[in-house]
Amino acid sequence: MAANSQDRRRFLSRCTIGLLSVITALLAAPVVAYVVAPLRRRASKQGEMVEIGPLAELPLGKWLLLPIDVVLQNGWEEVRERHSIYVRRTGDKPAEVSVLSPLCPHLGCPVGWVPDDGKFKCPCHGGIFSTDGSHVSGPPPRALDPLQFEVRNGHLWVRWEDFKIGVANRVPVRV
Ligand code: FES
Repeated sequence: MAANSQDRRRFLSRCTIGLLSVITALLAAPVVAYVVAPLRRRASKQGEMVEIGPLAELPLGKWLLLPIDVVLQNGWEEVRERHSIYVRRTGDKPAEVSVLSPLCPHLGCPVGWVPDDGKFKCPCHGGIFSTDGSHVSGPPPRALDPLQFEVRNGHLWVRWEDFKIGVANRVPVRV
């Protein structure tokens, strides 16, 4: 009788451990996927086009802030840098796609898209840009900087570029 009860306790204990392991694995899976995802995302060397993703999956008419990874060569070392880009498509043709750098051309603060106002606003010194990135008001000396892109087989590819800040002309900064 005592042996029976011990067997039952051992069996229940194993079931509990097994169940807890399954629950832990289920809970951990999305977290692991989230942590590993950026490592799987492709990056290209500076100056090269980086694949962003399928154009058709971008919602129509909305500015989205998306990540873009660039690999910089620092001597022998390769340094992976993450930037952001604003992307909007109003149709399926390349001419209906816009890609902007989110860095304010005044002093380089990241601007925010404010959908309710239909404007990009810079939190640092109040620079304001229209929905297409044109300069509306405030200290920025020019519009938001457009980034070069291509559509290859329905996928958007973008070239990240830094531009000189605080000047009216758009001058690329090469490192
Ligand atoms: S950095 Fe944007 S307005 Fe100054």
